[in-house]
Amino acid sequence: MARALVTGGSRGLGFEVARGLIARNIETTILGQNPENVARAAAQLGATGICCDVRDYDGLQSAKVKHDPFDIIVLSHGVMSEKMSKTMKATKEDWDRTLDINLTGVFNVVNVFAEHLVEQRSGRVIIFSACLGRMSGPGNAGGLAPYRISKAGVNAFVRNFAHETGLGARGVLVDAICPNHSQTDMGGPNAPRTAAEGAETAIWLATREFTPGVDQTGLFWEDREVIPW
Ligand SMILES: NC(=O)c1ccc[n+]([C@@H]2O[C@H](COP(=O)([O-])OP(=O)(O)OC[C@H]3O[C@@H](n4cnc5c(N)ncnc54)[C@H](OP(=O)(O)O)[C@@H]3O)[C@@H](O)[C@H]2O)c1
Repeated sequence: MARALVTGGSRGLGFEVARGLIARNIETTILGQNPENVARAAAQLGATGICCDVRDYDGLQSAKVKHDPFDIIVLSHGVMSEKMSKTMKATKEDWDRTLDINLTGVFNVVNVFAEHLVEQRSGRVIIFSACLGRMSGPGNAGGLAPYRISKAGVNAFVRNFAHETGLGARGVLVDAICPNHSQTDMGGPNAPRTAAEGAETAIWLATREFTPGVDQTGLFWEDREVIPW
């Protein structure tokens, strides 16, 4: 049976990804930083929970040795920057917090947990980016500087790591997704799509059939379609 790790699995889109993977008989572990949220979600899902801040590299390493290695890693943790966070209005604290969690936290989790799937030449890494991080389309509109730039960094991370792992030729798939505006604590209750709808493409990327040389990886996906970075 495949094993998956879902960061941000304690709430929102990550919770729905974990639910979808479990429904497909994938043994799933969720990771969040708030102990109550992690415990509640793990009990609801019937999943294992890891409580660790993605900024805590040593804590992630300690968690790694306590768990069997993962074949699928979905990174769905994240924070939004403050509302008034144009470049000249953003605080240094908000910049550091957003970049540390959204971008350095992605590096930390992949660097600690992806070694196994690279070595076994089989596995998937799917990372929640955002359309706000695109360098074409809506990502260029300015504002929310820490968040947009953290997600642009995530896009660069995915592209870079996908090339380093052979763009699918060596059994490892690495992709970014834009879930679109979804009803979660981050997206708010009036978002146009449900969290389950926002999670669907990530679940598909984690479980799709993949034929090297035919199917593509190392790309940015929205609703199962490739979109420009
Ligand atoms: N919702 C949207 O409309 C939307 C649109 C585009 C992109 N996204 C992206 O999709 C991803 C999921 O968003 P969401 O809407 O599901 O957010 P959410 O409902 O606010 O949930 C955020 C998740 O991230 C975890 N998290 C936050 N900081 C963490 C840290 N320092 N260490 C470990 N875990 C941490 C939270 O864990 P705790 O419960 O422990 O706090 C929670 O599970 C994010 O990357 C977000 O940027 C969302």
